[in-house]
Amino acid sequence: MRMYDIIKKKRDGQELTSEEIEFVVKAYVSENIPDYQMAALLMAIFFRGMNPRETYDLTISMARSGEILDLSPIEGIKVDKHSTGGVGDKATLVVLPVLAGFGVKIPKMSGRGLGHTGGTIDKLESIPGMRTELTKEEFFHIVKKIGFAVASQTGNLVPADKKIYALRDTTATVDNISLIASSVVSKKLAGGADAIVFDVKVGSGAFLKDINQATELAKLMIDILKRSGKLSRAVLSNMDQPLGRMVGNSLEVLEAIETLKGNGPEDLIKLCVRICYEVLDLIKIKASEQQIIKEILSGKALERFANFVEAQGGDPRVIDDYNLLPLSKEIIEVKLNKSGYIGKVNTELVGIASMVLGAGRSKKEEVIDPSVGIEVLKKTGDYIQFDEPVVRMYVSKKSDVKSAIKLISHAYEVVEQRVKPQEILLGVIE
Ligand code: URA
Repeated sequence: MRMYDIIKKKRDGQELTSEEIEFVVKAYVSENIPDYQMAALLMAIFFRGMNPRETYDLTISMARSGEILDLSPIEGIKVDKHSTGGVGDKATLVVLPVLAGFGVKIPKMSGRGLGHTGGTIDKLESIPGMRTELTKEEFFHIVKKIGFAVASQTGNLVPADKKIYALRDTTATVDNISLIASSVVSKKLAGGADAIVFDVKVGSGAFLKDINQATELAKLMIDILKRSGKLSRAVLSNMDQPLGRMVGNSLEVLEAIETLKGNGPEDLIKLCVRICYEVLDLIKIKASEQQIIKEILSGKALERFANFVEAQGGDPRVIDDYNLLPLSKEIIEVKLNKSGYIGKVNTELVGIASMVLGAGRSKKEEVIDPSVGIEVLKKTGDYIQFDEPVVRMYVSKKSDVKSAIKLISHAYEVVEQRVKPQEILLGVIE
């Protein structure tokens, strides 16, 4: 088999065989195909697309490029919850301790934030002492004991995705549905869970801005998992404004804890309850949304969160004392000097503003500052007076405050007419 022929075949719009796809993945990982040939193939795929069978084959070959976690030491059905990435998305921190209350086991592997989107690992690491690099034994032990654990790296999972994603990132080939689906699902397969619920984000702060594209991605990911013998479902949720009120690492942990205390913002609660409901329904555990809310209000999910923090080396006292979180004391309010209704929020710009303050990274190697971020005071449909602030920025000496203010000013559109608030839930795909 020659890479040249495979590139030419895809360039001309033909279907690749399972053997050709497997050959490409194996040879690229073992460095027998140079980046320039792989980049050419990715661009051909970008323009010509892949059918569901090709996408499935690519996903399987990628998943098999490294270790596939064997979760059999943990009894019962193992569940994973995956967000396609957004701004202010701390849902995982709420959903996991709630689900554990229904006996669900969630050995969760998470990523760090990149670009305008945040990552669960960065958020958790803002808790003093919290460790996310766990040995397999520790990981399994915590899941057995508490019901869930969150790890950043366990073994050598999907090396093909690491290489291919880095190349896509530099060759403008990220936003292709087949390539996104194979990248995401290969990692889910390697993670070893039996059932996976996706939170597919749609809107100005998401990868996919359009509901049709998001629906297509959700269906494709579910199809691949079904072919692999896994249970799967997707919630489509609105990312046309930040989720909840807090964006930034310590700030999001604080908001997740408040939500577990029953004081969360409405959109975050609604989304978390719905994700929990879909997970439980998928694995045939009968529970109503009311019962899920009751689990939160009982305080048991909060207690479980504290136990999880402690089990992973973190200081559980943060739950009662937010002063223990690294949270900047230097606060700047941003005003638009306009009055009217908030018509739209360009959520990607809010995410970038948080990033330039230091809460996120534009390159993988960058170090983040857990103490900075943005508190969103106004969302779509809210009225602002001329001198009212729209956000509060938590800044440090290293924050690029000037750029962040400019980004926030561009992110908010103020209109004269009343505007309907945004709906968080956009649909469920089974
Ligand atoms: N997230 C991933 O893990 N992969 C993609 O391709 C896009 C988003």
